[in-house]
Amino acid sequence: MKKYALITGASSGIGLAFTEIFAKDHINLVLVARSIDALKSIQSHLQNTYNIDVHVIEKDLSKIESVEEVFEYTESQNLQIDYLVNNAWFGDYGNFVESDISRNTQMISLNTIALTNMCRLYSETMKKHKFWRILNIASTAAFQPGPYMAVYFATKSYVLSFSLALSTELKEFGVTVSTLCPGPTESKFELTANATWVSLFSWKLPTSHEVALFGYKKMLKWKKVAIHGIINNIKAQSVKFLPMNIRLFMMKLIMKR
Ligand SMILES: NC(=O)c1ccc[n+]([C@@H]2O[C@H](COP(=O)([O-])OP(=O)(O)OC[C@H]3O[C@@H](n4cnc5c(N)ncnc54)[C@H](OP(=O)(O)O)[C@@H]3O)[C@@H](O)[C@H]2O)c1
Repeated sequence: MKKYALITGASSGIGLAFTEIFAKDHINLVLVARSIDALKSIQSHLQNTYNIDVHVIEKDLSKIESVEEVFEYTESQNLQIDYLVNNAWFGDYGNFVESDISRNTQMISLNTIALTNMCRLYSETMKKHKFWRILNIASTAAFQPGPYMAVYFATKSYVLSFSLALSTELKEFGVTVSTLCPGPTESKFELTANATWVSLFSWKLPTSHEVALFGYKKMLKWKKVAIHGIINNIKAQSVKFLPMNIRLFMMKLIMKR
């Protein structure tokens, strides 16, 4: 049976970079995002260049029914998903007290609920195969609270905690769950998060391809948590030793407009 990787948020940035990396290894693809035109052009590029089978699904994953619809599609097409990459996201910058309730709800739904339900539905079918890999994309934001992006940071903490628990629970089925934690990376991130000014993004950033390739390799090595970049690693490890008040004070300084 042919092997497939399902990648959410495959139309740009790190998700798009993943499509090329899997395709180079001759793994067939199921790509999910809202921008169907972008997905179709990626589909034809990958099919022509790598001679693989590529399915595209136009779906807003922040809608609660979408994950089941994606699952029904792959089941109806008899596609065996061996790799699941939960990458789609959005974030928002600003004072929480003025934030838009429906945007917050969509953010939580996309960043956490869709990812959880994807894992739930595919884990049931995939554990039968005794080989499958899940790669959930969190962030270095998972390691501390983030004033002015409080909801986004909290969703990424959820992704890390959930994925670590799952990696332990599913090990006996031959299933690996890895969490990729990128730091600031070249992509549409700043635009998507409405945070173009944030000083976090002011130095030379790694490309989406570098980050995705790093995550891909770590996933194949069954690494539970993969933090991209030495500085990001040092920051993620060292914050643990600082008192919470100091961590919050520093983050507020960094994040404040
Ligand atoms: N770039 C960074 O600096 C950075 C840092 C830390 C962590 N990360 C993490 O890395 C991952 C990728 O980030 P990125 O910067 O590469 O993102 P990006 O370039 O902004 O792309 C986001 C992707 O998610 C899709 N998406 C957004 N809303 C969606 C929805 N409602 N339903 C389905 N798909 C949706 C977008 O496609 P459509 O618009 O076509 O739907 C797009 O393909 C995210 O999980 C992010 O949290 C990124």
